[in-house]
Amino acid sequence: MTEKELQTLLEDMTLQEKIDQMFQVVGMFYIKDNTGIESGPAQELGVTPEDFDMAGSILGITGAQRLMDVQKRYMKKQPHHIPMLFMADIIHGFRTIFPMPLAQGAMFEPELSEKCASVAAKEAAVSGLHVTFAPMCDLVRDARWGRVMESTGEDPYLNSRYAAAMVRGFQGDDMKAPGKVCSCVKHFAGYGAAEAGRDYNTVELSEHTLREYYLKAYQEGISAGAGMVMTSFNTLNGIPASVNRRLMRDILRGEMGFDGVLISDYGALRESVVHGCSADDREAAEKGIRAGVDIDMMTGVYSANLKSLVEEGKVDEKLIDESVMRILTLKNRLGLFENPYKDADPEQEKEVILCGEHRQLAREAAQKSFVLLENDGILPLDLKKKTAFIGPYVESRELISSWAVTGKTEDCVTIREAVEELPDMENVVFCADATDLDKAREAAREADTVVLAIGESYRQSGEAASRGMLDVPAEQMELLRAVSAVNGNVVVVLFNGRPLDLREVKERAKAVLEVWFPGTEGGHAILDVLTGKVSPSGKLPMSFPYCVGQVPVYYNHFSTGRPQQKGADAGYVSRYLDIPNEPLYPFGYGLTYTAFDISPVALDKKEMKTGEKLTARVSVKNTGKTAGTETVQMYIQDVSASVARPVRELRGYQKVVLEPGEEKEAAFEIDEAMLAFLRDDGTVGSESGRFRVWIGSSSETENEAEFTGIFED
Ligand code: GLC
Repeated sequence: MTEKELQTLLEDMTLQEKIDQMFQVVGMFYIKDNTGIESGPAQELGVTPEDFDMAGSILGITGAQRLMDVQKRYMKKQPHHIPMLFMADIIHGFRTIFPMPLAQGAMFEPELSEKCASVAAKEAAVSGLHVTFAPMCDLVRDARWGRVMESTGEDPYLNSRYAAAMVRGFQGDDMKAPGKVCSCVKHFAGYGAAEAGRDYNTVELSEHTLREYYLKAYQEGISAGAGMVMTSFNTLNGIPASVNRRLMRDILRGEMGFDGVLISDYGALRESVVHGCSADDREAAEKGIRAGVDIDMMTGVYSANLKSLVEEGKVDEKLIDESVMRILTLKNRLGLFENPYKDADPEQEKEVILCGEHRQLAREAAQKSFVLLENDGILPLDLKKKTAFIGPYVESRELISSWAVTGKTEDCVTIREAVEELPDMENVVFCADATDLDKAREAAREADTVVLAIGESYRQSGEAASRGMLDVPAEQMELLRAVSAVNGNVVVVLFNGRPLDLREVKERAKAVLEVWFPGTEGGHAILDVLTGKVSPSGKLPMSFPYCVGQVPVYYNHFSTGRPQQKGADAGYVSRYLDIPNEPLYPFGYGLTYTAFDISPVALDKKEMKTGEKLTARVSVKNTGKTAGTETVQMYIQDVSASVARPVRELRGYQKVVLEPGEEKEAAFEIDEAMLAFLRDDGTVGSESGRFRVWIGSSSETENEAEFTGIFED
């Protein structure tokens, strides 16, 4: 449809019909077999059956034939035959499930995540969907928060690259194209800063911290063309995001240039009453529309109140028209007026979903997402030696996260199944029962090497799944103690949705492989890496704390005026009496099966003036015996500026693949824009002075050089 035709359509719609477009319910109300996927509390909506019937969009149901039937029924009844929007949470895969987003962050390869998102879009589109509620772009620094698994970590620069890549993967250049869906940047804003890591909790951020760190990834997702943004549940500095007019109209739409559809999170509009910022649903409706929220997800706040608010002159119908025009425009961008079924195709569905190519991509992404935290040389495994695979994850199919709502665990390849595909595995035994310690000890005693597959349940992370303790589940630590008491050669394979306290695991294991929730091809990928068919290359996208008392802990922190010097453990400095300041494993850390030597940082100049660029170089050499990939990371510190700057910030990385003995150069270009930051007067710019630059294999690298910036004020 043309813009003019949309305008004509809008003008022809009744007020109630327009308001119906702003209402979204879970799809289960629309199908008989009630197999809708519900995420979040279903609430007493208090709307008429007609409102339900005419809701402009539904969430949480999939299936080509099912959604074609729903669409057909709906359009027949809809007075202008306006098509419905079908939305769902396709966070890290539709039916082919990729590693959870935090694991994808560990790949340090947004380009690969773009491919994963593209496959997810293809499977979702052929199953009738139009919109996915992804990517989640929340900055996370607190491992207690269950939804860290849904983010790509603690670094704004890395998160920004992932946000843009995932939007591109889902949407392509034109979301109308076959195999593409509309993406939704969420949760705006600052949701990851929930106090004490408790989900839905209060968020207090200074304007500086919000803008300089938390908004970056949302901005990159929006700049990449995301068609939708979702509000967050939290208050931001005292005002619930969903009714926060300054945040949504001035910042999101005014400054960040978002002109798409703004949808509330599930029930979030009505929750402004519970927050104590709306006296009742009526006020929530008034505040929501003034904030520019276009779709009310799963409450009747808009449906039951907007009409009377307009009729009583409390709300200008122009606001409704603006919202409905954005909704109609999104439907138009998806081509739904010409083809309301878009890519829904029951035959294609059978071909595309979980096809070999998609599984292979899932396997590659999983391999690259694993982070080798410890290895004294016991890995890669020698399966000619007697090896006992022990622990609950040896035969578990629960390898997908709590945000793989359209995935099926029965599709997952277990570790045991992967091992049993090996040609010769007579030296392998399995003991998957985590409760029978005697059996586990027996198996361990008989073996040369133990592979212990343990970790959190997927239910222990995700939404409403914050934890006050960051331990590996107690019964599995018992298993580790029992096994390591009779066999010192233990390799721990760890499944988890968040950084955990791994102090004892580190003590008792000779190798620790972090596999997160690896997705449908988890078992194959784990064995590929354990046996050395693929060398591990992942790097931590989020710090693993020494213990929960250290949280929030993140690498790009400020110095303080009394920083603790490495090794000094006394004096009036910023430190703990009982634990170190440093995390157990830092951002950017990860081992491989080989060794790399990185040369001192060489700068092509010692001074950089406005308009100039500076190049920092290192040579990377594989000094080990096997091929491997080193993710060389560049960090910069603005040593002295008008506001305190982090002790270092990631400003570039390169994955260097090297054969044994091979050497390559890694060059990083530094320009003035890279050094710009938000000043106290609200301007963004760079400032002259000293800059330190590090290039190395983690955020703790000491491979440093210095340059001076001489910039025009
Ligand atoms: C949930 C989540 C949000 C999700 C939405 C729809 O409560 O907060 O991320 O997209 O509801 O399922």
